[in-house]
Amino acid sequence: MCGIVGYIGHRQAWTVVLKGLKRLEYRGYDSAGIALINEAGDLNIYKKAGKVVELEKYSTDKDKSGTIGMGHTRWATHGEPSDRNSHPHISNNGRLSIIHNGIIENYSVLKEELLTRGHEFKSDTDTEVLIHLIEEIYKLENVDLLEAVRLALQEVTGAYAIVIVDQDNPDQLIAARKGSPMVIGVGEGEYFIASDASPIIEYTKNVIYMNDNEIALVTREELLVKRLDNVVQTPVIQELEMKLDMLEKGGYEHFMLKEIYEQSRSIRDCMRGRIYPNEGLVQLGGIKEYADKLKNIDRIIIVACGTSWHAGLVGEYLIEEYARIPVEVEYASEFRYRNPIITEKDVVIAISQSGETADTMAAIEMAKEKGATIFGVCNVVGSSIPRLTHAGVYTHAGPEIGVASTKAFTAQVTVLTLMAFYMAQQKGTLTQAKLVELLTELDCIPDKVAKALESNALIEEIAAKFKDSRNCLFLGRGSGFPVALEGALKLKEISYIHAEGYPAAEMKHGPIALIDEEMPVVVIATKNSSYEKVISNIQEVKARKGIVLAIVTEGDTEVRKMADYCIEIPDSSEAFLPLLATIPLQLLSYHIALMRGCNVDQPRNLAKSVTVE
Ligand code: F6R
Repeated sequence: MCGIVGYIGHRQAWTVVLKGLKRLEYRGYDSAGIALINEAGDLNIYKKAGKVVELEKYSTDKDKSGTIGMGHTRWATHGEPSDRNSHPHISNNGRLSIIHNGIIENYSVLKEELLTRGHEFKSDTDTEVLIHLIEEIYKLENVDLLEAVRLALQEVTGAYAIVIVDQDNPDQLIAARKGSPMVIGVGEGEYFIASDASPIIEYTKNVIYMNDNEIALVTREELLVKRLDNVVQTPVIQELEMKLDMLEKGGYEHFMLKEIYEQSRSIRDCMRGRIYPNEGLVQLGGIKEYADKLKNIDRIIIVACGTSWHAGLVGEYLIEEYARIPVEVEYASEFRYRNPIITEKDVVIAISQSGETADTMAAIEMAKEKGATIFGVCNVVGSSIPRLTHAGVYTHAGPEIGVASTKAFTAQVTVLTLMAFYMAQQKGTLTQAKLVELLTELDCIPDKVAKALESNALIEEIAAKFKDSRNCLFLGRGSGFPVALEGALKLKEISYIHAEGYPAAEMKHGPIALIDEEMPVVVIATKNSSYEKVISNIQEVKARKGIVLAIVTEGDTEVRKMADYCIEIPDSSEAFLPLLATIPLQLLSYHIALMRGCNVDQPRNLAKSVTVE
């Protein structure tokens, strides 16, 4: 949610910052802006509503010189997306400039106070209030800018990752973070600041992840990091594992398609070194310290949002089935505002691709305070959630740039499958022979995913029939239900077709009223435990003239007699069905969205990493 980039060094800041904004655009794309200080000491600010490319066009004939600068790509919270509300914002005297990711919750109180002191505001944003506050303290307290920022941040409630440039101090950047991510790249005589490592990797592998309540003074020669309580910190430099080509489209038309096609590889990467099928053994180094605790836990609570929540529902099915531990799956945003009963005996699993989702982080903090043990299932290495949790298992899917989650979902499901088997191992709820059988099958899933992807051409043809639909229903039972939910979410978020996922048997309790000859119903109808029952559900849809697209097991003949369209996936146990049945639904949404002229990688109003609640 909002991407920020800062640069100070010997390169042209414009080039570094603009490229960085393009890499971060998945975080928000309502508007973009850049501030530069040129050789003459002028502060030049260019900003534009719309995508980064609009800013680029707008700035064609502008002065882009200077080796210090910062940029922002916005996902609007306060104030509509417009040139006026775009970042960077400036102070009253126009000499300080700020970019900000997050929300200043007490901005209206601060703004009122500043208005009485004669400040004039040019935008409706909370961010502009913050830079005016800093200016006010800078003026009144007779302190240096770092101290003024530190003091101002003590008056602020909310979340922020900010970068500030000062026309009067053209050789420094100031950065601070609380609740929003920030990484500093360390080069030779240069520093890079960004919301995540993607704008940095091209220049250096050495990074420092800033912690909450830290503030940094960055010059070409040095980096000073302090806590907000003024205690100087020794930053820890870490080496990035990410590679530049992971951030490129690699010949695909869209990141989403590339990421859908990567799933055979990403699921394999996720299992690498963790499963030993011949021995019937799962090893999860990230949670092994808690192996004994897992033998005696009464309950697991899974917290997550969106697609990650759907993965959690698959996790519930698997953990209850194999490890026989009761599981509750909660929307992090609801959980955090209830007063849930949590004890020291509970294990909370927080699932998050980005590792930055504000609601999930708040849910973790609450559960931690109540004494629960927290495991993270995250994709972005070094992000906030893995640092907040007691232990965890990374999904290792590689960077996911398409805003709609695809490979991260299947990697999350893979990790949860491994966790379920690991817990079963600790508790002794599965025999060795059964573990050998399950792990042997799991080991073949990447190949089956590759097989499922071979239906792409057929799926494209089917997409052409559905592309003008206004609604769509997705039905599934058992582990097929979260798949239905995920299929519906993918379709609505990238094609803007209204779609709903339902447990197939629930259809007759309401949604059946929607079915007519124009209503496509996508049914997960593979040969699993509820096959016969799903067939009855298909008949109910057909009796009302609904159009049925069924996801079936290869070789199926029963469903084929009833359904209008069928897409086959390789045969598998119910446990692994979500990993296979999700693939055609991702492709279906992708093709429908493309045919409707939608931006599949950057759907309207969305952002990849939701760092505000
Ligand atoms: C949908 C999607 C979102 C995210 C949700 C949680 O395609 O990507 O629903 O799953 O915003 O994000 P993370 O997993 O980063 O916590």
